[in-house]
Amino acid sequence: MTSIPRDQWYVAAYGAEIGHDLFTRTVCGESILFWRTRDGAVTAVPDRCVHRRFPLSQAPSRLVDDQVVCGYHGFTYDAGGRCVAVPGQSRIPRTARLLPYPVVEQDSFVWVFIGDRAKAEASRIPRAPWLVSPDHTTVAGMEPLRARYSLLVDNLLDLSHETYLHGGYIGTPEVAATPITTAVDEQAGIVHVSRHIDDAECPPFYAKSTGLRGRIARWQDIEYTPPCLYLLHSRIAPVGSVPGPDGADPDAFHVEVVYAITPETEHSTHDFWCVARDFALGDEEVSTFLAESNRTVVLQDVEALNVLEQVIATEPAGCQELSINIDTGGLAARRLLQRLCAAS
Ligand code: FES
Ligand SMILES: [Fe+2]
Repeated sequence: MTSIPRDQWYVAAYGAEIGHDLFTRTVCGESILFWRTRDGAVTAVPDRCVHRRFPLSQAPSRLVDDQVVCGYHGFTYDAGGRCVAVPGQSRIPRTARLLPYPVVEQDSFVWVFIGDRAKAEASRIPRAPWLVSPDHTTVAGMEPLRARYSLLVDNLLDLSHETYLHGGYIGTPEVAATPITTAVDEQAGIVHVSRHIDDAECPPFYAKSTGLRGRIARWQDIEYTPPCLYLLHSRIAPVGSVPGPDGADPDAFHVEVVYAITPETEHSTHDFWCVARDFALGDEEVSTFLAESNRTVVLQDVEALNVLEQVIATEPAGCQELSINIDTGGLAARRLLQRLCAAS
């Protein structure tokens, strides 16, 4: 059985990556061709000509208005994947068709549905509204990971690693030292992991971006909706400050850290990351700092997970892991992912 759930929505790209040019990305082992049509909609079809399999993203394949012309023998397809011309004959075979993928552009992401298209319900796509909210400023990127996506899920569900792998950037001793609480919403299929640290050193990532001096209250509230969307609601405030009973939280700085975890293949992953803040709105210096810092932190994870993938790929059969309290979120995520795999 594959470890990648099908019949699911996955982030294939940022909307900003796709213009009126051919763009290709592999999602869950499927090579997909994208472009933005003249009316602004993103179209997604298999990146494989029905004639002799030539990739339609590969030059000299090209886009002519809203039609893609295969660079091998000229089969031509419209934005809906219908073949509209073949060379040397006027009759177009009835089966000459690229089956379009369901696509939804939402919260700055382009989501595609992988699996049985009849099951694609756009309302099931989890939301990350901060990424397009005028009340937030967002920086974002994507790093390729040469490791299976489940290693990134493990990594993000257990932030105790910040203390060790990201020491001096976002990690301080209090993160690993503070226990977590884990809860699973079985109905919605969401894993929640919380760590509220009442008195911690402020790591450079937050000290420089917020301007807070001295020790802080640092709250981390994770919401993971398998398989693809991970949210970390991060709250940074002076020690002793708590939100009011009405939720007002004027002394705090809020950062919404969003990851889209998209399998490229069984052993590689697209690691989309976004950092949306509700302070220093539009401040370019803060944006540059957060973008560079977060990318550095993501690359520290990428380096570690690339090594882990090799360890797993070459270890003898029967090797065991050992789990402790910090792993409850990761274990819950694995269970939900297994459930999704079994259902697909
Ligand atoms: S492979 Fe595309 S037209 Fe022949
Ligand atoms: Fe990390």
